[in-house]
Amino acid sequence: MHAAQPPPGPVRLQVRAASGPYSVEIADGATRRLRTLLDAAGVPARRLIVSSPTVWRFHAEAVADMAQDEPILIPDGERFKHVGTVGRIYDALIRAGADRASVLLAMGGGVIGDVAGFAAATYLRGIPVVQIPTTLLAQVDSAIGGKVGVNHALGKNLIGAFHPPAAVVVDPALLATLPRREFRAGLYEVLKYGMIASRPLFDRVGASLPALFARDGSALMPVIAESCRIKAAIVEQDERESGPRRALNFGHTLAHALEAVTKYRRFRHGEAVAYGMLAAVHLAVARGAFQARDRDLLSAQIVQMGPLPPVADLSAAQVVEAAGRDKKVVAGQLHFVLPVAIGQTTVVPDVTTAELVGALKVLGLKE
Ligand SMILES: NC(=O)c1ccc[n+]([C@@H]2O[C@H](COP(=O)([O-])OP(=O)(O)OC[C@H]3O[C@@H](n4cnc5c(N)ncnc54)[C@H](O)[C@@H]3O)[C@@H](O)[C@H]2O)c1
Ligand SMILES: [Zn+2]
Repeated sequence: MHAAQPPPGPVRLQVRAASGPYSVEIADGATRRLRTLLDAAGVPARRLIVSSPTVWRFHAEAVADMAQDEPILIPDGERFKHVGTVGRIYDALIRAGADRASVLLAMGGGVIGDVAGFAAATYLRGIPVVQIPTTLLAQVDSAIGGKVGVNHALGKNLIGAFHPPAAVVVDPALLATLPRREFRAGLYEVLKYGMIASRPLFDRVGASLPALFARDGSALMPVIAESCRIKAAIVEQDERESGPRRALNFGHTLAHALEAVTKYRRFRHGEAVAYGMLAAVHLAVARGAFQARDRDLLSAQIVQMGPLPPVADLSAAQVVEAAGRDKKVVAGQLHFVLPVAIGQTTVVPDVTTAELVGALKVLGLKE
């Protein structure tokens, strides 16, 4: 037996976004230093917490002494990510007399971050929000970048704003209570960062899966920090997604389509991304634009991570049709992110319906 390694020290990233700079603090146990971190970030002293009953039950003690007011607890889960929930936050803010010198602390998964962020973006025409993400997906993705918003009955994320956080505090220790399936769903997004920007990150995930699933801080820290660094670098270059930020959509065109045709009930978002990435590598290999060996590496990696929901009953043609309705269709052309190598992608405008259907059928979807 070897001695357990102490978790690596804190990592602080500065995101120099076009809309203004903010810091991302990543450290095992960071929430225990939250007051100091917020004071250092110049965050107003009137602090109101928005969280969910689930997250609060597990992690209230980490932040309870941060705020004078009762936490604003909203039910989370994608089906509560709507304007009605935002209205409940407004009600609580008005009753508490929150003013422009107040700040919202959004503590939860991506749903809480997006909903609370949108409330902060619009209450009194905007008060600051601090993101304290508690799922792996939120820690490596949704908490950074400033996109906030809610769903409409007719579509996901149709209502929203850009509202960059005043600060982001990422504490991997909070992931100890995250259900394994949620954790795995986030890990597919980490794999995505490896695929688009970092072969070493890709390899590191594969080499440390048991320690990651055990939520070992020394395994989580470097993987989360590197993912945040990649997301932050892309956001810095392209906050509003005109160019480089598109690489973040790797695996996502088909993922969104898979989620839509199953009415958002079958897949965790990351699981659909896993399928989307697999389809993209199959398609790229069929074009002769990606090595079969690297496709096999990605497939093996995803298999090793655990089971994905079944797809054999889904129609490839229907999924591709749904992909055509995606926001990323510009003037009738689907801009598709293709892998070039593990660690590099490119955007192409000429992927055909037949290619997409073919790739999905390789994954086991029916005609
Ligand atoms: N703004 C962005 O840039 C961006 C990027 C990606 C995704 N998103 C959004 O993020 C949302 C998905 O976020 P998510 O995957 O975090 O899902 P989620 O917020 O629904 O959380 C998943 C589940 O985990 C529970 N949970 C959260 N933290 C926990 C913890 N520490 N221990 C135990 N349980 C915990 C929650 O109660 C919930 O049931 C989607 O709505 C998506 O649109 C936004
Ligand atoms: Zn995603």
